[in-house]
Amino acid sequence: MIPAGVILPFDGNNTAIPAGWSRDTRFDGRFPSAISGTLGQTGGSSAHSHTGSTHTHQPNSHVHSSDEYTSSANGEQGYSSNDDPKSTVSEGHRHKAQVSNASFSGNALSDKVDYASTTALPPYYEVIFIKADTDSQIPAESLVYRSSARSGLSFHSASQNRFLKGAVAGGNAGGTGGSNTHSHSVTHTHTAVSHTHSGTTGESTDTDRRQADGGSVIGQHTHTFSFSQSLTGDTFTGTSPSETNLPTYTNLGLYKAASQTNVAVGDIAITTSSSNPTGWITCDGTNGTPKLSGFYVRNSQTSGTGGKVKHTHESGNSHTHSQSHNHGGSVTTNTNQGGHGAYGGTLKASQNHSHTITNISTVNMTWQAASMSAGETSWEPPYIRVRYIMATQTALSDGYGPALLLLLDR
Ligand SMILES: [Fe+2]
Ligand SMILES: [Fe+2]
Ligand SMILES: [Fe+2]
Ligand SMILES: [Fe+2]
Repeated sequence: MIPAGVILPFDGNNTAIPAGWSRDTRFDGRFPSAISGTLGQTGGSSAHSHTGSTHTHQPNSHVHSSDEYTSSANGEQGYSSNDDPKSTVSEGHRHKAQVSNASFSGNALSDKVDYASTTALPPYYEVIFIKADTDSQIPAESLVYRSSARSGLSFHSASQNRFLKGAVAGGNAGGTGGSNTHSHSVTHTHTAVSHTHSGTTGESTDTDRRQADGGSVIGQHTHTFSFSQSLTGDTFTGTSPSETNLPTYTNLGLYKAASQTNVAVGDIAITTSSSNPTGWITCDGTNGTPKLSGFYVRNSQTSGTGGKVKHTHESGNSHTHSQSHNHGGSVTTNTNQGGHGAYGGTLKASQNHSHTITNISTVNMTWQAASMSAGETSWEPPYIRVRYIMATQTALSDGYGPALLLLLDR
């Protein structure tokens, strides 16, 4: 007998639940789990994410070039030694730009990247979990776990290597889904960081840099320059290394009754009651029972265990970032005096001036490879805590034994 209150998986339609049995809706959408906890307690989720850790990409230097010369500057005013302003005491001049000689300094890209939520369910076969309203036989189309085959039942190959999952509310048995592994999207763009190029132009190149009204060449000079730009690094689009979807499991064969059948020794059913019915013992690895406590059960006739309820995704996804840029294409040099020139035998200074460096080339700023990693997450699929119980010889007495003895006593 299956005692009242005991639960079996049923592989049929919702409208075909046998008389004397009721759908146990607590199991709808859930995987039975004999991991320790309060019986009947539900939890878990079909999706999960991970908190990422920070990864850092060191910058690579790069070089820009520009036109060979700066812009021309002229019109500088000079002053005589007695501060008598003169107009245009020097003519236009320019410098070799020398941007390609500039020194580079830059910051690393460094951000915490979380692993986005993803659905991850182990391979499953959907059934309806039904509960006996009264003491019953095993109904047709229902399932029991067993350590070995027996007559009256056949191995349920449709759910081989799968976990049983309650069909969605009101749904029928037979749906399948899930997969062995999952990964997460780790798409990210880093916070912008700046880099700088600093250098010095060549000396003024024009030998006709002189006073407008004649006189000697004014002194040679250079200009410094510095230009910066903030870049984010192009967006990296990728996925994490994969990890198992399988919760901590043990294998056990699942067998289906083609027609109503009596309970046999070794048949395994489900309960969420705190005590076992008479003749049924907990499947905890003692008294000849398979050890199902502490596990999810996967339908396989080959013994084995595996899976985990905590996982991380090993460091991986080595990746780089780059971004093309040209610093706006131009930069103004710092100002500098033009030096001194002789005017009528008197030293003269020209005013500060600057030049423009144009056509700064577009190049790729690149950062070195780095790997992402994620924190460990405790994750189980949607579950309901249960206990698996196995029928012993006593469970087969069907309750008629004592009645028979009473008759014999008379
Ligand atoms: Fe994960
Ligand atoms: Fe200059
Ligand atoms: Fe990155
Ligand atoms: Fe640059």
